[in-house]
Amino acid sequence: MKKELSRRSFLKISALSGALAGISGIGCSRGKTDVEELIEKISQGVPRTGKSVIGLTVPPIPQVKVGIIGLGNRGTGMTRHVHALFPDKAKITAICDIRKEKVEKTFEFLKENGQEPAVYSGTKDGWKEMVERDDIDLVFVFTHWDLHVPMCVYSMQQGKHVATEVPAAYTVEDCWKLVNTAEETRKNCMMLENVCYGSEELWILNMVKQGVFGTLTYAEAAYIHNLRGMLFGNSYYNKWRIRHHLKRHGNLYPTHGLGPVTQYMDIERGDRLEYLVSMSSPQASLTEHSKTVEPDNEFYDRSDFLHGDFNTSLIKTAKGRMIALKHDVVTPRPYNRINAIAGTKGYHEGYPSRLSLQEKGHSWLNEETYQEYREKYEHPIWETMREEIEKHGGHGGMDFVEIYRLIDNLNKGLPLDMDVYDAASWSVVSPLSEISVEMEGVPVKFPDFTRGKWQEKRELGILKNI
Ligand SMILES: NC(=O)c1ccc[n+]([C@@H]2O[C@H](COP(=O)([O-])OP(=O)(O)OC[C@H]3O[C@@H](n4cnc5c(N)ncnc54)[C@H](O)[C@@H]3O)[C@@H](O)[C@H]2O)c1
Repeated sequence: MKKELSRRSFLKISALSGALAGISGIGCSRGKTDVEELIEKISQGVPRTGKSVIGLTVPPIPQVKVGIIGLGNRGTGMTRHVHALFPDKAKITAICDIRKEKVEKTFEFLKENGQEPAVYSGTKDGWKEMVERDDIDLVFVFTHWDLHVPMCVYSMQQGKHVATEVPAAYTVEDCWKLVNTAEETRKNCMMLENVCYGSEELWILNMVKQGVFGTLTYAEAAYIHNLRGMLFGNSYYNKWRIRHHLKRHGNLYPTHGLGPVTQYMDIERGDRLEYLVSMSSPQASLTEHSKTVEPDNEFYDRSDFLHGDFNTSLIKTAKGRMIALKHDVVTPRPYNRINAIAGTKGYHEGYPSRLSLQEKGHSWLNEETYQEYREKYEHPIWETMREEIEKHGGHGGMDFVEIYRLIDNLNKGLPLDMDVYDAASWSVVSPLSEISVEMEGVPVKFPDFTRGKWQEKRELGILKNI
């Protein structure tokens, strides 16, 4: 049954031009239409300009020459993980940040430890000059969200592989831009979803693939992290993150929770995310907190935050499985990604990690049996590299494993563990949830970034090329 848009919904759609940017036929000037047509347009593909990069391999690069953009909270730490692979596997040839002091700090660290990269700073486009260099194979993008897509696209166009922080993009159009550019240039575009490399997540992935959970039916995941202090503080460049709360609904940061559970479920490798519905609570925490910050803070005593405190999206997959995905970065509560996975034979829930198995009764496994499973199904990379991983650390070691895997695969000429289709289908949850929230919870279909290839069963690199 077709549902006609009310005047209120139409005004809401007009306000959604950000999330919908670039989708043909949708814009502020349209007249009355119907919801189904609108949703159909969002999910439609865009013309293909290259060839699929599923399973892309490139000739081995024995020492990967790296350029790094963005040396803030994230980039500073991640640069150290890249440096840990110098000189055998990688070398940092250039670094860039708009802020001179950030570049100087990282340069000092690298120089003390035997590397002298070229430096770029002081201008907002200095990064372009950097990625035009001919001594860079791979560009890392550690800047704020708005710059991920332009930096990735330009880098690929300059013949570089690219690895970007999460989310890779936050409009439907930008997700397609990443896919089409990777396909045109035949370059890798990997989103740095570090949580996929956590020891708990890889242990579960291993158990799922060995049948411990039986047939998977449901997952629950989240990004629950009280960032109030950081949102109002000075740790983010130009307070970039809180600005998204002024103008956007939905799930602003979907991929940490979603990445691992989609890997358990073979998304893009036999199943796909098909549609979602999303709802948000009212906004209250930031308004209240804004009264407690210094009066000279730009966000002091503000009530114009759009983003609801709590957002939940329900995602249905083509095979009928369901994922509940939550986002909350303002409620005073402990950090949680939930990491729940349910199958016909077992169930896991994180925070703290607990396992329940049909064959072992109705309770959580006791500590001893849980540990037996931990040891039996530990992922080989954590088993064989544990000492090195723990030495380098980074969110419990997942950051080091992520960088190691990316560089190691390029060294060996193997496909990367995660590709541009993963980046697009996980990131697109942001704009789709925005649309659903705005439209009073209507189901919104996912675009098929693989253009049908999701149906081909493929094993994840992290499971076969260790
Ligand atoms: N995967 C994780 O666990 C994780 C953790 C934290 C942050 N992140 C992601 O990392 C990214 C950066 O977050 P952050 O906390 O480091 O933010 P940040 O503000 O500390 O860092 C961004 C850096 O980009 C620089 N920058 C801004 N404009 C630039 C330009 N035109 N050219 C060059 N440099 C420019 C800024 O000076 C700043 O140093 C975000 O995408 C965030 O979501 C991921």
